[in-house]
This record gives sequence, C-alpha cells and structure tokens, in this order.
Amino acid sequence: MTHSITIASGKGGVGKTCVAVNLAIMYARLGHRVCLFDADFGLANSHILMGKNAAKTLRDALVGGVPLVEVIERGPQGVQLLAGGSGLTDMMNIDDTARFQLIRNVDALKESTDILITDAPAGASENALSFVAASQRVLVVVVAEPTSFMDAYAMIKAAYVEHGLRYFSVAINMAHDNVDARRNFEKFKAIAARFLDVELSYAGHVPFSAAMRRSIVQRKPLLAEANNTPDKELLAFKALAQAVLKAPMNIYEGIRFFADKDSEQETMG
Ligand SMILES: Nc1ncnc2c1ncn2[C@@H]1O[C@H](COP(=O)(O)OP(=O)(O)O)[C@@H](O)[C@H]1O
Ligand SMILES: [Mg+2]
Repeated sequence: MTHSITIASGKGGVGKTCVAVNLAIMYARLGHRVCLFDADFGLANSHILMGKNAAKTLRDALVGGVPLVEVIERGPQGVQLLAGGSGLTDMMNIDDTARFQLIRNVDALKESTDILITDAPAGASENALSFVAASQRVLVVVVAEPTSFMDAYAMIKAAYVEHGLRYFSVAINMAHDNVDARRNFEKFKAIAARFLDVELSYAGHVPFSAAMRRSIVQRKPLLAEANNTPDKELLAFKALAQAVLKAPMNIYEGIRFFADKDSEQETMG
C-alpha cells in the first residue's frame, strides 16, 4: 500500500513547507521511496527549498498534458519532487475537474512510491481542503501562537464539516522543546474536542532552529545529508515521521490519492 500524507496548516508562514520537505527526506532516509507533491500552486516553493530549478512543473502536466513522470525531479536522498511552480497565478484557483485530474494522474506513481507527501495550500479554501481529504492522513503544522491555533482550528473544522474527516495529526513547529510543545498541543486538543467530534494526535515538535533558517538561505534542506544534521532536529524529524504513520487513517468517500479501484468496486456492490 502507498501511504499518503498531506501537510496542512491554518495560516501561512508556520513552516509547512519546511516540514514537508524535511519529513519527505526523513522518510527517504528511513528507506522509503518518497514523492513530494507541491500542491501549493502559484506559491509553490518546495523546489526552492530543495535547491531545484523546476524545469517542469505540475502546470505542464495540467495545461500541457506532459506526463507526470516527466515532471519529476530527484531531490536530496532520491526524493521524487513534483514541483508546483511559483508565480503561476492561473494555478492558484484550479477547479475541481483539474484538481481531480491531477490526483488521478498521481496514480501513475503508485509503483515507484511508498509514501506520497503533499504540501497543501495554507488555510481552509476548497483547494486546500480537497488535498487534505485526498490523503489517508493529515499532518497539521502549527506554531505556539493564538493566531496559528485559531486558523488551524478553522481548517480542521472545515475539513470535518465539509469532508467528514475525523483524524488529524498535529506538529508544533518552532517549539522550545518537546515538553512545551506537548503542553500547547494538549490545550489545543481540549478546545477542538469540546466543539468538534475529531481526534487529534500529537505527532511531535520541530525545534526552533537556526540551522533550519540557514538551510533555507542555502537552498539545501536541513536533513539532506545523512552525516550533517544537528542531533536535535534529526531526532525530532525521526519521531515525527514515525508518529505520523501510526496515526489513524481517515475514511473518505471522495476523490483520493491512489484510490483502490478493487475495493471501490466491492463497496459499490
Ligand atoms: N523549525 C524552524 N526554526 C526556525 N525557523 C523556521 C522553522 N521552520 C520554519 N522556519 C522559518 O519560517 C519560514 C516559513 O517557513 P515555510 O516552510 O515557508 O512556511 P509555510 O510553508 O507554512 O508558509 C521559513 O522561511 C523559515 O525562516
Ligand atoms: Mg509553504
């Protein structure tokens, strides 16, 4: 089975892309074949963090009919990258049909991929929510600020109300330490549980990291090189990678990545 994980957030700037890129590389380092799908169209920047030029982007697949396998670039640790393309404003509001077509096109990567990581747009737009719903699991990235929690809550509520999703993993980015991060998570979880029938799991934290900042300027992901990652960050991403795959999967009847056609036919009778 190919795992699918969408990285989501309430507001932007919380480190969603940093987490998506380094989590993808972490899974590759743990021996999985990984594909990173940059669905933050128009504002896509995972290729920039990965030091890639994105000669071809998902726009070429969508508009130009280029097969998805030709869009793939190889990033650090062999991560397959489907770049979204920045500055492509016509990509920012793609319609349902285009989105569904893209998700179905990703089926072609099933045989070469163990884990698909999708970097979704921030917020609770239809675009963001459909990529959240399309994966088995969602990892919501937050920072310990009221604005981040409130926007993450709004996104979770919309995913629950509009798509019936119940299970969400949460990672606290730019955290002081794991204890502090977990305390913030528990507060957030209590509030969400009071108003919504959702189950939040603590996936872990990513420490506030000067090395992370530098890695962005250098366009070389923090986890790119096996012998060159600071211990704290390495341990945090390893724990995160393991926790996310242990979280419960959502059951969703709509359009999903790698939809299993056999079991779909079975349920249709
Ligand atoms: N763990 C971290 N420690 C320090 N700075 C971070 C960390 N994660 C992200 N950042 C900073 O936050 C900025 C925004 O991150 P990014 O991943 O682009 O956010 P998003 O995708 O949510 O908009 C980065 O450019 C980086 O400077
Ligand atoms: Mg981003």
